[in-house]
Amino acid sequence: MSPVTVSRALAGLAAEGLVVTRPGAGAFRAQPRASAAAAGDTSWQEVALSADGAADLVPRSVDASGVLVSLAAPPPGVIEFNGGYLHPCLQPERAMAAALSRAGRRPGAWGRPPMEGLPELREWFARSVGGPVSAAGVLVTSGGQSALTTALRALAPPGAPVLVESPTYPGMLAIARAAGLRPVPVPVDADGVRPALLADAFRATGARVFVCQPLFQNPTGAVLAPERRGEVLRIAREAGAFVVEDDFVRRLVHEDAGPLPRPLAADDPDGVVVHVCSLTKATSPSFRVSALAAHGPVLERLRAIQVVDTFFVPRPLQEATLELVGSPAWPRHLRAISADLRARRDAMTAALRLRLPELALPHVPSGGYHLWLRLPEGTAESALTAAALRAGVAVTPGRPYFSAEPPAGHLRLSFAAVAGTGEITEGVRRLRTACDEVRG
Ligand SMILES: Cc1ncc(COP(=O)(O)O)c(C=O)c1O
Repeated sequence: MSPVTVSRALAGLAAEGLVVTRPGAGAFRAQPRASAAAAGDTSWQEVALSADGAADLVPRSVDASGVLVSLAAPPPGVIEFNGGYLHPCLQPERAMAAALSRAGRRPGAWGRPPMEGLPELREWFARSVGGPVSAAGVLVTSGGQSALTTALRALAPPGAPVLVESPTYPGMLAIARAAGLRPVPVPVDADGVRPALLADAFRATGARVFVCQPLFQNPTGAVLAPERRGEVLRIAREAGAFVVEDDFVRRLVHEDAGPLPRPLAADDPDGVVVHVCSLTKATSPSFRVSALAAHGPVLERLRAIQVVDTFFVPRPLQEATLELVGSPAWPRHLRAISADLRARRDAMTAALRLRLPELALPHVPSGGYHLWLRLPEGTAESALTAAALRAGVAVTPGRPYFSAEPPAGHLRLSFAAVAGTGEITEGVRRLRTACDEVRG
């Protein structure tokens, strides 16, 4: 080779970083660059996961912490006042096992179900919602979390505002943020969402969606007052907006509750409501069967998103649901948890009034599985939660339930996930210790 060719080749290799030339000494093989990743180094992912979002007008944020609080098991010996589901001793374990084993033997149980769900199951959900909801308007989904995700993705494009109750379920706020939506809080009082503020929020934001829990709201336990029900639907209708009704604990009604109001969807002839209901709260977190109910063109949108995201709910689980809710054990189970939850609620309320009178309990709910307490001014919520854990009781801090600045510190205490009333009394005693520690 001519010297010119060699020097051109070296210049090319130097430009690619493969050799370094040192005048007067020669050309040498370059050391691998320091930034070249060692095998197994995943730090590149930090850039990859954020780089595209940098230009987003409304950044998506995927944060599971608010959801994990009620899903994660507490350390051994710690009393679980932060659980979101029934303790195994309250779950219909035998009835579920029997239903699953009968379901597995049903003809075609392992085949492909219709995408919208088994017709008999859609029929059952439609009957339990009532009003104008028909089986044709029901989609069987995989738990409330997935149904809410489908509803929000179907109804609002990334960047859109979505009106939410304040306070509200952090898992729903997480869904909204992960979909790039902007949650806008509308305050709730003892009678549910405040209609005048809802109307203001629609006017101010132009939102097309309002997410509402009219029955035993999480976390306040409020029930939407009868005179507000029609008003909420009218305000949404006038704003050209949908109401996503998260009817998550209808089956966790306490024994001493009066007659329950119907779902909002049952009183909605105009297709304003997209109704979500789930069986997990009355069974087990693993019994992930739920439904979306709607009518009008929105149904096609919901169906499309659900099929694209998850295809369908596994057929054996749908068959097991039919077996379970059709068995004599089902109404017996619902009656039993109704009595049990009332006893637990009363035990927790009594223990709190006795030992922690400084924690305000503005509302004692007649359904659901938790109490919502307001902390005295000046109590640091996070310090108290940490002290409680040290004292052996896991409680849920109020902050994640607010999509904006909270008006005060709060705690949510669940009475369903513990083994019984003895644990409730002991848990409250431990919380007393924690409060004393934080107060100094
Ligand atoms: C208000 C509310 N909606 C929906 C859900 C989702 O529950 P699941 O997905 O188990 O049905 C929860 C769970 O805690 C909840 O509190």
